Amino acid sequence: MTKEDLTSFEGQVVLVTGAASGIGKAAAELIAARGAQIVCLDLNEAGLKSTVSEITSAGGRATYKILDVSSQTAVKKVVGEILAEHGQIHALANSAGISGPTGKPVEEIEWAAFQKTIEINLYGTVWLTQELMPSMKANNYGRIVHLASIAGKEGNPGMAAYNASKAGVIGFVKGVAKECATFGVTINAVAPAVIRTPINETVAEDVQKYMVSKIPVGRLGEPFEVAEIIAFAASKACSFTTGFTFDVSGGRATY
Ligand SMILES: NC(=O)c1ccc[n+]([C@@H]2O[C@H](COP(=O)([O-])OP(=O)(O)OC[C@H]3O[C@@H](n4cnc5c(N)ncnc54)[C@H](O)[C@@H]3O)[C@@H](O)[C@H]2O)c1
Repeated sequence: MTKEDLTSFEGQVVLVTGAASGIGKAAAELIAARGAQIVCLDLNEAGLKSTVSEITSAGGRATYKILDVSSQTAVKKVVGEILAEHGQIHALANSAGISGPTGKPVEEIEWAAFQKTIEINLYGTVWLTQELMPSMKANNYGRIVHLASIAGKEGNPGMAAYNASKAGVIGFVKGVAKECATFGVTINAVAPAVIRTPINETVAEDVQKYMVSKIPVGRLGEPFEVAEIIAFAASKACSFTTGFTFDVSGGRATY
């Protein structure tokens, strides 16, 4: 008997937010190469088109929809449309995110900027999970992977809003995992250290230097290195790990 390849996504529909760039783009491409039909979601239409065209020209299957994850109404609408179109959503890789204000002590951060960071990074995580969970539970199958960060475990100075949003993601998956554990649904997070993507273009230089100096491997991570962990956590193979935050930090976090 041939053993099933549990890392294959053949026959599965996988949503990837933040798919226009960086880690989300790398995850969409890798999961598509492993057989999934990907629905790429992001605010950036030009980036979405480019990800879809790279996947399809490599022989994969992908479509896109514009989504602002910081709008609960938009999340409800888009997830509803995808469920109506595809019948089932097998997995979500939620990589949409912003760094928010950086290089500022907490008392100098404008509330609007703090709030926007939480709305995208944390509320988006919650709303996507709320919209997907009922159908995943009904199907007795689902994989949810949210992007947290080393910042949510250790806290980077000058990034209070980001730290708080990502610590929120880590706490969120821990509890929700216990709610859906007997429904065939796993929900995990991934905590990268600094990865070479456009998000770091907006991070203050001294904060970047601090973050890289903390990585024992001594370099930035690459998007494909995070995509591999996301692909595992989004696959059938990840059946006995839930509520966990996978580390992709070049040795910075060993817990
Ligand atoms: N790159 C790093 O060093 C690093 C480290 C730890 C965690 N992360 C996390 O990984 C995830 C991906 O980051 P990245 O490095 O690929 O960044 P990136 O900037 O390359 O990609 C982020 C994507 O999210 C999209 N996005 C932003 N706001 C959105 C919104 N409201 N709705 C929908 N899409 C939105 C952007 O358009 C962009 O395409 C983020 O959650 C980030 O916090 C990144």
